Amino acid sequence: MQRITMIVAMKQEAAPIIKHLNLSEVKMQDPVLTCQAFQGNYKGLDISLVVNGTDREYNVESVGTQPATITTLEAIRQFTPDLLINAGTCGAFKDKGSAIGDVYMGERIRYFDRRIPLGENYFAYGDGSYESVLAQNYATRLGLKGAVVCTGNSLDMSPTDEAILREEPLVAKEMEAAAIAAVAKMYKTPLLAIKSVTDLVDDECTTAEQFLANLARASELLQQNVFKLLDVLSKDAKSAV
Ligand code: ADE
Repeated sequence: MQRITMIVAMKQEAAPIIKHLNLSEVKMQDPVLTCQAFQGNYKGLDISLVVNGTDREYNVESVGTQPATITTLEAIRQFTPDLLINAGTCGAFKDKGSAIGDVYMGERIRYFDRRIPLGENYFAYGDGSYESVLAQNYATRLGLKGAVVCTGNSLDMSPTDEAILREEPLVAKEMEAAAIAAVAKMYKTPLLAIKSVTDLVDDECTTAEQFLANLARASELLQQNVFKLLDVLSKDAKSAV
């Protein structure tokens, strides 16, 4: 049976997936960590979903690269997946043709705010570019556009961030995927990133306002596309037997 682990940052993004897959909460092995895991079965796939959990000091969802790294490491150790899926929401550029609710598959994943101008190697390490060969195949089969998933630790966007983000043809700006990709690569586990747009970063309305207004709708659309992806993965797993 194929084991799939989904890494989702916020409980609001995960809720429609947990509900539709009818996943049950299971204990994470390390009680110090805030991440929470859910497990179940879908069309012959063994599914686990791990969220970063609520920060105990600030009582908010743990977003960003640090919790993403810890969650991914712990999830890989506990569930030993054949495939990781990072499902979440993102910002995108209206003037690159994106709209609220668009869903993208990450063909490449990189940081946009890890700038280390200390020579070629540090520069490349900072950029942290991860190609996803699998993504192109699944994007085509699901009829989704491929985007460059650009990770940073800020929801808003500085002019320097914007210049870097604009280097890419189609952008999914978010806060976890590159950290997840780094751990996935260490453990030689393939990763698919699927992202739905909550906000247009070049709109007159603030990112925060758009994000809060569109989070539930974008999470629902994310869930629908995650299901399409699982259907295809299930078919592939069955035909491989
Ligand atoms: N998640 C959803 N929208 C985002 C944005 N604009 N920047 C970073 N992460 C996001």
